[in-house]
Amino acid sequence: MLGVGSGPSFLPFLVSALCLLSLPGCKRDLGECNLKWDRERPIQGPAAFDIVYRATDGLPMYEGQALVQSTCGDGSFCHAPAAVGADRIGVPAGLNFDVDLACTDVTDDPSCAQPLESCEGGQTDTLYCERLRNLQNNRNQVNNWAEGMIQEIRSGTMPPGEAGQRVRNNTPWIRTTDPDRPERSAELPSIDSSEGQEIVRNWLACQAPAIARTETPPLATDELELCQSVDNEICVYSGPSDLPDPTWSDIYFGIMFTDCVICHGPSNDNTDQNPNNPLDGIIPGGASDAGLTALNLTGADTADTTNWPAESWSAVVNALAADPGDCAGQGTLVIPNDSAGSIMVQKMRAMQTCGDSMPLGSFVSDSLVQVVEEWINQGALNN
Ligand code: HEC
Repeated sequence: MLGVGSGPSFLPFLVSALCLLSLPGCKRDLGECNLKWDRERPIQGPAAFDIVYRATDGLPMYEGQALVQSTCGDGSFCHAPAAVGADRIGVPAGLNFDVDLACTDVTDDPSCAQPLESCEGGQTDTLYCERLRNLQNNRNQVNNWAEGMIQEIRSGTMPPGEAGQRVRNNTPWIRTTDPDRPERSAELPSIDSSEGQEIVRNWLACQAPAIARTETPPLATDELELCQSVDNEICVYSGPSDLPDPTWSDIYFGIMFTDCVICHGPSNDNTDQNPNNPLDGIIPGGASDAGLTALNLTGADTADTTNWPAESWSAVVNALAADPGDCAGQGTLVIPNDSAGSIMVQKMRAMQTCGDSMPLGSFVSDSLVQVVEEWINQGALNN
């Protein structure tokens, strides 16, 4: 199994090796993903979209993002791209976990005025798009190494010993007080504490979302201003990516596999044999039993996803909403030539009449939803 997955990169191989060294069920070590705290469905512990603010300047980050960024090199050591030679303290070149914001201050850097969507299509011709792309690449690295990272952090070997202390940035990160969650401390706990480790674990289990930019320069004085909304594109990083073609197979690997299968598929520890796997061989799944019961977007072969688009097509096209389920009896997931009437699109546009918007706790950009609509309005073929 090792190394068979093609792909030019050595990373999936090393991750598999790390997994083999550890207990069985490596991927499951990451556990449940809680994206968002919700009064109607309170969860125990952290949510990946919990935001903290750096005490000195009000810079916002997700809690897991802040812990990893401030302990894994903070832009200049170890896992930071700017670190070279001795400053890497033995970390291999290219293994970068820098998840700092791509842009914070339009007055300092006019390129920050560029809209996020302008980087879609993979452009790297501007400084801003290039920074977004770097952030996305580093997030991919974090996701590739997630199991290994959490094991190292738990065993106390990462960040390592004295060097680890030296590369840390100990500036406090402040939480907003939330009367519904009185158990939370005012300051973000350290990565050495069990609470800090749980924050990083949950953040990794949710695939390491990152705040990519701020609308206005962060200020120490307004450090407790919340982002308007975590669904707001300016706050949540959705990543520059090539738009898929309006065909089911392209939509499948461009949206469904990357954003939906994590909840709409069973947990899967295999390294994918499909050379076109967009996640470097990782097969997502297992994050939500309720999601899987409502809709299964996977195919029969659990070690090769090549045929999953063709096989999962009938799970959505002309498929009635699952019964029992929040949408039971309320309609059809995808109705050919009727995108507006399709429950799947309604949920992706947060205009649904049943259950939650999709992806649950997050969002996909308008331009991606438009591609799905185009495919449906061209007949929703299994193409
Ligand atoms: C974090 C978990 C999660 C993610 C990610 C997620 N879903 Fe869901 N999904 C659920 C849950 C839970 C339900 C059942 C409750 C409901 O209908 O709201 C569901 C239900 C659905 C349904 C209704 C199925 C039925 O038969 O009733 C559709 C359609 C759907 N999701 C589409 C998507 C799409 C498309 C994506 C990706 C863009 C996505 N989901 C991502 C958790 C998730």
